[in-house]
Amino acid sequence: MYAISSTKSLILLLGLLLYCIHDCHSIEPLTIGAAIGIGSIGLNYFKGQTYCRFYECCDDRSIPGNITALHRSLESTLYGQHIVTQHLIPALSAHLSAQSKSRKPLVLSFHGQPGTGKNFVANQIAQALYLDGSNSAYVTKFLGRSDFPLADLVDQYKVRIDGLVRDRLRSCPRSLFIFDEVDKMPSGVFDTLASLVDYNAFTDGTDHTKAIFIFLSNTAGTHIADHLGNSMKAGKLREDTLLSDYESLLQRAAYNLDGGMKKTGLIEAHVIDHYIPFLPMEKAHVVQCLEAEFRRWGKQPDKDIINEILSSSISYDRMHGLFVSSGCKTLEKKVAMAIY
Ligand SMILES: *[C@@H]1O[C@H](CO)[C@@H](O)[C@H](O)[C@H]1NC(C)=O
Repeated sequence: MYAISSTKSLILLLGLLLYCIHDCHSIEPLTIGAAIGIGSIGLNYFKGQTYCRFYECCDDRSIPGNITALHRSLESTLYGQHIVTQHLIPALSAHLSAQSKSRKPLVLSFHGQPGTGKNFVANQIAQALYLDGSNSAYVTKFLGRSDFPLADLVDQYKVRIDGLVRDRLRSCPRSLFIFDEVDKMPSGVFDTLASLVDYNAFTDGTDHTKAIFIFLSNTAGTHIADHLGNSMKAGKLREDTLLSDYESLLQRAAYNLDGGMKKTGLIEAHVIDHYIPFLPMEKAHVVQCLEAEFRRWGKQPDKDIINEILSSSISYDRMHGLFVSSGCKTLEKKVAMAIY
């Protein structure tokens, strides 16, 4: 990170120097103040015309925000999650549109068991919104277990999150923040963040209305599975279940279960715009994941290998016997192993 920023400054310096060589005789009679003025005009000119064509800047080139691309990639690579695509695309389109009258950041909370695609979708969002995807300097990712492991240090964590979010928003309003493993974070960790994502959070002119915050947690995964399992047993099709069937369940579970969302101001202050359920995977969805993995390796899906992986590696939930316990996680690695 430091290496990158020092090359960046070097290039800027070089640009200035070139500007001077080109125009030095006209600078000569000027006062130092004017020289500095010209220098900074040159710097801005250089930055706009050259630098940002090749390096990431907080502009439309580096942050294309291509929702069409996101929609397409979700439709072709995300399996069994009709609610996610239905709600995510309109939510993001509305937030990113030039006519957006948004007065606060977009705040999304993804819930579901491991292997249902929460991370996968968060990465695809980063990929579609930023030219550099998850590697963009404007995408910040926090991991519950490694970044915020200790309940005793929750006050330090709060300060760290607050400082980092403020810094990032100042350097680019169109920043994306992803908090992964929220259920592994100590409760209270988002206390200060809650006020940053609310209306009128900043008095220093920092624009936070274009930012996006995404929280990922396994919390309520079993509640989602229970609800879906019961609906299906009662004859409802999975694809006919709606966001509204899960929303209040998610909100309640997140607020009451252990983890970073427990009794959090984020929920109390109603700053979370959408609670998105990731449904547990059935066997057919896992088969789709495995087939896609074959194609990703440039191979035709092999039925025998798929059947072998299915019979040796998957287990079903005990409650309903319908859902594959670890979803698509880890199974994809087995395809790579089988191919080589
Ligand atoms: C957005 O992505 C789509 C599909 O990948 C592509 O066809 C289109 O040109 C992109 N639009 C912009 C403005 O980059």
